[in-house]
Amino acid sequence: MTEVGIFAVEDTSAQVCWRRLRPGSTISLGDASVEVQDHRPGAASLDGLPPSTRLRLYVRPPGGGAARRVGAVQTLAPPPGELLCRFATVNDIHLGERRFGVLRRIRDEPGSPLEPYPLRCARAALSEAVAWGAEAIMAKGDLTYHGRPQQWTELGRLFAGVGVPISAVLGNHDVGRRAVDGRPELASSGISMPHDAFSVDLPGLRVVLAHTAIAHRHHGAVLGRQRDQIAELVGAAPGPAFLGMHHYVQRFRTPMAYPPGVPGDQSRALLDAVIAANPATFVSAGHTHRNRRRRYGPLVLTEIGATMHYPGTWAGYAVHEGGIRQVVRRVAAPDAIEWTEGTRRALCGLWGLIAPGLRSHRCFSHTWPARS
Ligand SMILES: [Fe+2]
Ligand SMILES: [Fe+2]
Repeated sequence: MTEVGIFAVEDTSAQVCWRRLRPGSTISLGDASVEVQDHRPGAASLDGLPPSTRLRLYVRPPGGGAARRVGAVQTLAPPPGELLCRFATVNDIHLGERRFGVLRRIRDEPGSPLEPYPLRCARAALSEAVAWGAEAIMAKGDLTYHGRPQQWTELGRLFAGVGVPISAVLGNHDVGRRAVDGRPELASSGISMPHDAFSVDLPGLRVVLAHTAIAHRHHGAVLGRQRDQIAELVGAAPGPAFLGMHHYVQRFRTPMAYPPGVPGDQSRALLDAVIAANPATFVSAGHTHRNRRRRYGPLVLTEIGATMHYPGTWAGYAVHEGGIRQVVRRVAAPDAIEWTEGTRRALCGLWGLIAPGLRSHRCFSHTWPARS
C-alpha cells in the first residue's frame, strides 16, 4: 500500500487502508464509499459490491474537488454452492511482547494509556473477525511471547470475552525456555487445547488443529504418530477439511527463509498422507508473520501474518458447498492500525515490503477437488 490501497477483496466487499489522508477525503469503490475522519492511518470495509466485477478506487479531496483514481480491483467470484458457515483464524498474537524490530526499538510510547500493543491488536482482531461473521475462531500458535503464567492468564481473559468458540494450538514462543504449560489456565477460561491433533466440525468443513511446536526449539516437527493422527482426522471428515498448524511446511529440508518451519522431508510425508486421506483439504499456518500461498498437488497451503506486526492481520474463511474463500484483513481499529503501520519500518523498511505478500495470495476462492 502506498498512500491508500485495497488490502483485501471478497465477493461483495473490499477493505481499503490508508496511511495518511486529509480528513474529509472520500474514498470510493463502485457505489460504496467512506469518509476519512482524521490524520491517522485507517481502514474501512466497503460492502455491497457486485461479485466478479472490475472496480476502480477513487479518492476525492475534502470540499468536493476532482476525484483521483488510485487503484482498481476485481471482486472475487464466490466458491460454488451455498454459504454454509464462516470462521476465522488468528496467529502470532505474542501476548507479553514489548518491542519489535532487529534492534527492538519499535515499542509503545512509555506511559501510554493504551493496552500493550499485542493485547490491543489481538482484541481488535478477534472482535473484527466476529463482526465479519466468524462463528468460531482457530488460534494457530505463538499466542504468548514467553508462555509465562501472567501471559496465559491474560490470554484466557481475552479469549473468554470473545463470544464465539475458540480452539487453539501452540507455537514455538509458547513452549520456550521460560514457558509453563498454559493448558490449565486456558481450560479455566473454557478453552481446551488437547495434547494431540484434534478436530472441530463446522457446517460443511472439518477443522483439524495440530501442534507442531517442539519445546525450546524454533522450528517445528510433524513426525510419525502425529502425521498418522492428522491423516486419520482429515480422512474421517464427512467432507472437506482445513488443517491449521503454527509452523509452515518447508519445501526443502533446509529452510530457504527465516524462520524455519517443518523440515521438507517431514512436510512432504505429511502432505502426501493428507492427500491420500482427503485431497479436499486446505492447509494454513502462521509463524512467518508473512502472507503467502502455494499449491501442493490438490492442496492449497497458506501462511497468515501476525495480528500485531505490519500489516497486522487475521484471516476469514467462508465455507461454501463446493469450495472455500480466504480473506486476510488488516486489524482496523485505529489504535491497532496506527501501531502496525509504525512497524513497517522494521528491517530498514524491508519488513513493509515483504510481510504483506500478494493480495491474490491473501484473498481467493478455492474450489474443492473431487474426493474419490
Ligand atoms: Fe510468531
Ligand atoms: Fe512462531
